[in-house]
Amino acid sequence: LSLLVLISGGGSNLRALLEACRSADYPAHVIAVGADTDAPGLAHAEEFGVPTFTVIPSAFGSRAAWGEELLEQIERWNPDLVVCAGFMRILPPGVVADLTPRLINTHPALLPAFPGAHAVRDALAAGAEVTGVTVHVIDEGVDTGPVIVQREVAVRPGDTEHALHERIKTVERELLVQAVLDIATGHVDLEETAAR
Ligand code: GRF
Repeated sequence: LSLLVLISGGGSNLRALLEACRSADYPAHVIAVGADTDAPGLAHAEEFGVPTFTVIPSAFGSRAAWGEELLEQIERWNPDLVVCAGFMRILPPGVVADLTPRLINTHPALLPAFPGAHAVRDALAAGAEVTGVTVHVIDEGVDTGPVIVQREVAVRPGDTEHALHERIKTVERELLVQAVLDIATGHVDLEETAAR
């Protein structure tokens, strides 16, 4: 299974995928990594010899134009699966329509709880005792697509956003690597998931 991974930040989830793909019996490989900024995580791709590209929103006159360029870059690589791993942009509907259901996202909360860009902070602010991770198919909404897999992460007293997010990311990396494996082996059927 050929993967194109989109990131915005440190790329620890990307690194987990790159490391998993190193093993010969993991049936996926990362063919390119894209970012919306000069993301630090691009260094992981460079270290693993994986081509990278950036499509920076501020360089475009509209979200639609940015989306068109992003889609063009993605389709150049013709990946089997696009993985948003810490990609902090909402994909324009045209991009989702072209790529779904071969387009998944990892989110640091138990969707539908705490969608959006500050899920960990929101869970803490809401006094949640349990939060977690969701890997889902991306649809036109924000963090609303059908769930592939979720796992709980306990909130501990005194947790800071950073501490909780780091604990979440530990689980998230495992869940994402497993979800991609399940998709590659057919244990998870994206068409079926998206049709739910
Ligand atoms: C992940 O928890 C992701 O779900 C969220 O931001 C974090 C990105 O972490 N959107 P990294 O860039 O993979 O280290």
